[in-house]
Amino acid sequence: MDQLTQTARALVAPGKGILAADESVGTMSKRLEAAGVPASPQTRRAYRDLLVTTPGLDESISGVILCDETLRQSVAGGTPFPRACAARGIVPGIKVDTGAKPLAGNPEESVTEGLDGLRERLEEYAEMGAGFAKWRGVITIGDGQPTRSCLVANAHALARYAALCQEAGIVPIVEPEVLMDGDHGIERCAAVSADALHTVFAQLIEQGVALESMVLKPNMIVAGKGCCEQPSAAQVAAATVGVLRRTVPAAVPGVAFLSGGQPPAVATVHLQAMHALGPQPWVLTFSFGRALVDPALAAWRGEPGNVELAQDTLAHRARCNAAAAAGRYSDELEPAAA
Ligand code: G3H
Repeated sequence: MDQLTQTARALVAPGKGILAADESVGTMSKRLEAAGVPASPQTRRAYRDLLVTTPGLDESISGVILCDETLRQSVAGGTPFPRACAARGIVPGIKVDTGAKPLAGNPEESVTEGLDGLRERLEEYAEMGAGFAKWRGVITIGDGQPTRSCLVANAHALARYAALCQEAGIVPIVEPEVLMDGDHGIERCAAVSADALHTVFAQLIEQGVALESMVLKPNMIVAGKGCCEQPSAAQVAAATVGVLRRTVPAAVPGVAFLSGGQPPAVATVHLQAMHALGPQPWVLTFSFGRALVDPALAAWRGEPGNVELAQDTLAHRARCNAAAAAGRYSDELEPAAA
């Protein structure tokens, strides 16, 4: 098996998932400030240091996605972040897109940018130790949205990015996210997500991407946040697995879900409910951002004296999600958090 496929499989190793700690400088700064922590390169570094040095994290987490700023910083003691992760058996990854920008012709929708100069950036990231990368396309559900041009533009960019990653010896995480914003029902999310995934895989194949050497990071199939009829966990699981089975080739080693704004324990319950449906062609796991780190950030509040509590909080959510990824989660695991 080649190195890329080995890394892709390691990222979705049974009972492990990926920690998405790759918020851009702007987004991370806003989240720190909302938690009462002044935003600066130093506080962003301290927060990511807390996350990646959490005791026991390597038992539940296979890879950590970092942003450019963090990849160039070091943990306390001076070890660069990528080396500190690798030393714990956690694959360091890097977010390489440069964000979602208004789509020409349909400016209420977005297309993710970052292809210019990407080959050179990937070479540098590979030298710095990144084993995988991430690119997120954003798809909004609304009146007349998504348009075909939004789906195709984002799928094409994701495929061009994925091909460049594989050329550089880096595993691409391909993330087409259908947002939870809106009052649409679960059926509409299912239809749009199926269309988005179908379009993405058509483009991945057009661009010659090796499906064995990538990881898909989709949204779960849920109702819009504003929808008055919220589905049960069993409905979310059945809809999500159904859409994936109709659109994702079995050659893909793993599907690592984003959490998308679901409350942390709800995202865990949904992942567990998918495993209750039995074996699937691909590993089903998590690549959560907010659903893993929000409770830890709230516990930390920038206080050195709270680091241990914040790390315990992260380790707990990581363990719960790892249990769900192995089909062994139940709410009996939750009181340990207290
Ligand atoms: O791009 C989004 C992140 O990688 C996942 O974040 O789990 O908070 O949606 P989320």
